[in-house]
Amino acid sequence: MEKAKKEIEELKKKIRYHNQRYYVLDAPEISDSEYDRLFQILLELEKQYPELKTPDSPTNRVGGKPGEGFSEVRHRLPMLSLDNGFNDQDIIDFQMRIQKFLKDDPFIDYLVEPKIDGLAVELVYEKGILKTVSTRGNGIVGEEVTQNAKTIMTIPLKLMEPVGAMFIPDLLEVRGEVYMEKDAFSRLNSDRKKRGLPVFASPRNAAAGSLRQLDPRVTARRPLNMFCYGTGIITDSKFETQDELMTCLQQWGLRVNRPYFKLCQTINEVMDYCHHLEEIKSQFPFEIDGAVIKVNRLILQERLGWKSRSPRWALAYKFRSLQETTRLIKIDVQVGRTGALTPVGHLEPVEIGGALIKRATLHNQDEINKKDIRELDTVIIQRAGDVIPEVVKVLKSKRTGRERKFIMPDRCPVCGADVVKKEGEAVLRCPNPDCPAQVRESLKHFVSKEAMNIDGLGDKTIVKLIEKGMVMEEADLYKLSFEDLLTIDKTKEKSAANLIRAIEKSKKTTLTRFIFALGIRHVGEHISRLFADHFGEFNRFRNAKREELTSVKGIGDEIADSVISYFEDVSNIRNINHLFESGIHFETMAYDSPSIVAGKTFVITGRLLSMKRSEAKELITRLGGRVGSSVSRGTDFLIVGESPGSKVAKAKELNITILDEDEFLRLS
Ligand code: IVH
Repeated sequence: MEKAKKEIEELKKKIRYHNQRYYVLDAPEISDSEYDRLFQILLELEKQYPELKTPDSPTNRVGGKPGEGFSEVRHRLPMLSLDNGFNDQDIIDFQMRIQKFLKDDPFIDYLVEPKIDGLAVELVYEKGILKTVSTRGNGIVGEEVTQNAKTIMTIPLKLMEPVGAMFIPDLLEVRGEVYMEKDAFSRLNSDRKKRGLPVFASPRNAAAGSLRQLDPRVTARRPLNMFCYGTGIITDSKFETQDELMTCLQQWGLRVNRPYFKLCQTINEVMDYCHHLEEIKSQFPFEIDGAVIKVNRLILQERLGWKSRSPRWALAYKFRSLQETTRLIKIDVQVGRTGALTPVGHLEPVEIGGALIKRATLHNQDEINKKDIRELDTVIIQRAGDVIPEVVKVLKSKRTGRERKFIMPDRCPVCGADVVKKEGEAVLRCPNPDCPAQVRESLKHFVSKEAMNIDGLGDKTIVKLIEKGMVMEEADLYKLSFEDLLTIDKTKEKSAANLIRAIEKSKKTTLTRFIFALGIRHVGEHISRLFADHFGEFNRFRNAKREELTSVKGIGDEIADSVISYFEDVSNIRNINHLFESGIHFETMAYDSPSIVAGKTFVITGRLLSMKRSEAKELITRLGGRVGSSVSRGTDFLIVGESPGSKVAKAKELNITILDEDEFLRLS
């Protein structure tokens, strides 16, 4: 019996140690099977000697029998909330409030850390043994979820006593956030979907649902985790700072989000770090919805104290939410520049990240079917960066039965032409190039900032010009007179004159802008630049064969096909000819006048600083030169970078002009 007791104690110690290595430090020292073996031996021994099984045994994690609901736990210190801030000013105000309250202007530093989007729990350790775990509840009374929480491997059942660390207090209340990682959340949901079960709306809901499971065996199968961020009561606490407290929690074996804690000396540093966290928030494997700023020195925390709901010494800086819930009032169909029909959802206006959102793209029928989007549905809308807002999901539980399914039309809603669908594409298209919607959208694109940049020609004027029959194709813009513009209602003389000037100015452009302005399918700004750089002049691009197009780095079959079919269309050629007739011309670029490089042979040796070897080669070729691999009598120039090879001697021998990198750049 004594021998078994000793063995059990040793096994428990070992398993605890390896749990810590594996779950908390992410640095296991033994294989999974070795761990399982230790665990099995312990299980066996405890079965043999049930009287030796203690509540802190790691075998207790697998979960006991289902309970009858949860009992209540009264928190010794209330678990309150945090004040929220949304911008820099709120952070500055927070600091001012603190300074004003403290009056004596002490040194204040701040500990800033990610705000985890999960649910708050409290762990109570008595003499280092985990006794109870409870949820926040209403802050005063929470639910006891000890059995479930024990299945979370990063929650130690017994605190560690590392050498040099503070001794373990009689009573330690640790607070933190239980959460589910994003990956685990999607796996859980797709598994539930497969089994016909309702899915969780967010990782936070999934975490809360899992922790509050009546059957701990279910919780055990859900991958939950925990970060500790604070404490309730600690007997005999001698800590001076929040930072120090966190380090000690870590030494006791509790998990804290240490790499992302930052100690800031100034409020500017605080703001910078908050912005930084916001920028990298999607890189975290779990959801973070803000940053928590805490006064670091505990003595100041004490002096600042609490208001009714929240401490004066902390602030939650909340990131802008990029998702909101609203109602989809109606779906209509827009026809784009290339004839693509796009279903667009009209929304009850909702503010997301500072912008009022009224519409969201629904992409195509397949997307609508996949997400089962119906008119009058309540939907979650997402806006990320400059991307057009879209529907993330439908809240089906909010359906009333009045929602209407939507089917894409088989005719163009603008010109009535029968729509077509290419094999393998999800998009429907209006095949009529004279469709007023396509003409309008092409014109909008042509005049846009990145294309011909005709300032002052807004969407409304374009629509009027088309309605009045003044503009049918792009080239017509260059025929407009001052008087023509005045016939458009509300156009004042001054803006008409400005517009004429802007149109005139746009005639001098670059080849990249012009190619982009044509609106060839799949040829965006970047691709236009590749073509302009490669071909140098418009006619070489226009007459290029398929092989030449695909020989340009970055151009594939789809783009080449699209360019070919664009130039096969006579109406496009007619429009282009009209544009050149109206005076479109290109800013002179190096390759417009024959460069000194043209016709010459270059060899490169050594490492160039301003560009890669491949880029230098591309530049020379573009300017009409050739690049050889070895120096010979046929070589005109040797370009010499850092650490050159034997080619320099050879060039000197043959009396070949040697250029350093700067000289080469000036030449090109
Ligand atoms: S400190 C007085 N630090 O945010 C409460 N809270 O909105 C002190 N939370 O109830 C909390 N991450 O559940 C703190 N790093 C963090 C946090 C954090 C998430 C939660 C916590 C709290 C809620 C307040």
